Amino acid sequence: MSEPAPDPRPGPTALSRWRRGLFGRVFLTFFAAVLAFVTLASIVQFATRERHDAGWVEAADAVVEAHKPALLAALAGDGDLEAATRALAGALELRVAVRSLDGAHLAGDPATPPLRPLRPRQRSRLERGAPVMLREKSGEPQLAFPIGDRAVLIADTGDQAARRARNLALGVIGLVGLLGASAWLLARSLTRRLALLEDGAARMARGELGHRVQVDPLGDEIDRLGRAMNDMAYQLGELIRGQRSLLANVSHELKTPIARLRVLAELLAERAESLPEHPASARIRQGAVELEQDLGELATLVQDLLTSGRLELSGPHASPVQRTPIDLAPFLARLGAPFAAEVAVTPPGLSLVGDPLLLDRLITNLLSNARRACPQGHVWATAVGAAEDVTLAVEDEGPGIPPAERARVFEAFYRLDDARARDHGGAGLGLYLCAQIARAHGGTIAAEGRQQAGEARPGARLVVRLPLAGPPAPVL
Ligand SMILES: Nc1ncnc2c1ncn2[C@@H]1O[C@H](COP(=O)(O)OP(=O)(O)O)[C@@H](O)[C@H]1O
Ligand SMILES: [Mg+2]
Repeated sequence: MSEPAPDPRPGPTALSRWRRGLFGRVFLTFFAAVLAFVTLASIVQFATRERHDAGWVEAADAVVEAHKPALLAALAGDGDLEAATRALAGALELRVAVRSLDGAHLAGDPATPPLRPLRPRQRSRLERGAPVMLREKSGEPQLAFPIGDRAVLIADTGDQAARRARNLALGVIGLVGLLGASAWLLARSLTRRLALLEDGAARMARGELGHRVQVDPLGDEIDRLGRAMNDMAYQLGELIRGQRSLLANVSHELKTPIARLRVLAELLAERAESLPEHPASARIRQGAVELEQDLGELATLVQDLLTSGRLELSGPHASPVQRTPIDLAPFLARLGAPFAAEVAVTPPGLSLVGDPLLLDRLITNLLSNARRACPQGHVWATAVGAAEDVTLAVEDEGPGIPPAERARVFEAFYRLDDARARDHGGAGLGLYLCAQIARAHGGTIAAEGRQQAGEARPGARLVVRLPLAGPPAPVL
């Protein structure tokens, strides 16, 4: 397996990650659609304003026309101009004043702004007796209606127009805010559920095939995706379980014939000893010894496969790990002796709770690896106790394990140098089994470089950390 090549592009910023994420995309799409709609509506509203104004002026003109006789009569001195103007203001719902053509205030609300300077076209409209809408970029729109040829009626729409614009703006802001909030909620509800699926998939990918994502049986596409993931994990789990139990059964079936073969090989070696001196006898003796060795390795491999299968197939409910107190000093001394390892235990009376057979297998494999890596030099086996756990370490003065390989040596059947090491030692299952045993005890294992007095030295250091209190108790 090769590692994926590192991406040479610079890492994305938080903002661009957000924009490219599903949440950002749903939110921005929805929000952009709303903004586009509001902009379009504003453009249409602005473009049709002239027509709207024209209609509005016409309606106001009809009202003014109806009041004109009373106004004209009052201007001619027959009636109350003030009362007539107020009546018109009430009908128009606008601020209204009557001014003479030279600007003098005649009646109505004196706060009404003066008539703005007229453009020639507007002046000629007014002289023809038609009303004029005066709209400037800033300032409040006014309506001017000629009353006879001496006065003009000014209706100030300012308040009303400003109020309408303000209401419109508030409405738009409210709408955008409301739709933005609902876009946010929609995006969040979608992405939150996807994040749950992502988390579930990641856990399954880490090997937790018993994990299930929560789904609603009557749910939508996302629930269906979750259900498909659960089915997949179940099928994978069954497949792996089947393979493992096949392997375990085969290993078990192999045990008896191998044991028989070993007895026969032993017998053969014994008989070969008593053969008469002959060149062929020496070859037979040598062959018998090698046969015994090979069968011994085969027996170890099959036993390792069985132990590994037993550890894999056990669930949290039926742990195959025994919980026995182990006095570490004599334990390590016994295991270290065949490998001429230097043993040190601190404090000397240190003990932990664990499975003696499994831990024997673990330490023995580490020691045999170390001795194989450095047939002549020193090999150390140490145990250091702390408040909650024990650090067991096996070190050697061999070539060490390159940093890039330190994680992979724990994979099943992974060996660093096939050709060199094939004739000695196992099939690459040893450290895999060690990691399984450490995990079954609730501990960890790691490969490191060797250090002495703070300086790197050639050699490997395999470190196992185990909880003092022993493996986690089975869940009943
Ligand atoms: N102490 C060590 N020094 C150098 N290499 C090691 C050491 N221990 C393990 N290795 C490497 O890790 C590989 C895997 O070890 P292991 O799983 O025990 O398999 P095996 O002992 O069957 O080869 C070994 O083949 C060896 O290349
Ligand atoms: Mg080994």
